[in-house]
Amino acid sequence: MAFREESQEFTDGGASRSLSSKVSNSQIPHHVAIVMDGNGRWAKKRGLPRTKGHEAGERVLFEIVEAALHLGIKELSVFAFSTENWRRSPDEVKFLMGFNREVLRRRRDQMNELGVRLRWIGRPQRLWKSVIEELEEAQRVTRKNSKLILNMCINYGGRAEIADAAARIATDVAKRRLKPSQINERSFAKYLEEPKMSDVDLFIRTSGEHRTSNFLIWQSAYAEFVFVDELWPDVTPETLRRAVDIYSKRERRFGKA
Ligand code: FPP
Repeated sequence: MAFREESQEFTDGGASRSLSSKVSNSQIPHHVAIVMDGNGRWAKKRGLPRTKGHEAGERVLFEIVEAALHLGIKELSVFAFSTENWRRSPDEVKFLMGFNREVLRRRRDQMNELGVRLRWIGRPQRLWKSVIEELEEAQRVTRKNSKLILNMCINYGGRAEIADAAARIATDVAKRRLKPSQINERSFAKYLEEPKMSDVDLFIRTSGEHRTSNFLIWQSAYAEFVFVDELWPDVTPETLRRAVDIYSKRERRFGKA
């Protein structure tokens, strides 16, 4: 069963495929964040090296981008490489760096034709120069698109993002460009990696783990969380449709009674 707790609601033999026609626009999340977890386990189950799991995950990512466009989701953030992923074996880190670079190069034109604007969210420190160049080129080529923003979070960590923002604020206060009394949630958010990023509405994590793992922790303060059991390479557009269906049935109060 793919979904915990909510699974009973979704034994509809695929009827929710027509979700986009059943759920009104106001129930479609504007911003969906995904932790694409489980590539390594997917490969291990098949007796393959972990890298084969990442390769299998690429096709899924771009199927999900197309499904998001179809559903009318306007912003999609995916965790492609975290600031903690540097702790993996040197071979896997090397693979992931090269793989990110190649995927960006290979998929850039397809994303552009689909009207997707690609945005890089993450720190430049340690990141391979060739990956940064590819990210910048993908951003440049797709900058005028507006159907969907795809935030590629590469060398990203939520705490690092908040700490970096605090350091920039401290600099501005020291230089008297900002008064401590002017610091509030709204002004703080302007110092984050991407001030224009909207709050996350729906946060999805695959592979049966129930953690945020430091992904968009500021932006997900009021997100609805949906955890799915499928390993990332087993995810299909149906998984996204079902997660959106679960989201559409949740009551969001934002602290109100
Ligand atoms: C987590 O699975 C996945 C990653 C660290 C890499 C994410 C990359 C993809 C989904 C491939 C798509 C391609 C790009 C370039 C975005 P894991 O390795 O932590 O799996 P495990 O938990 O089973 O070990």
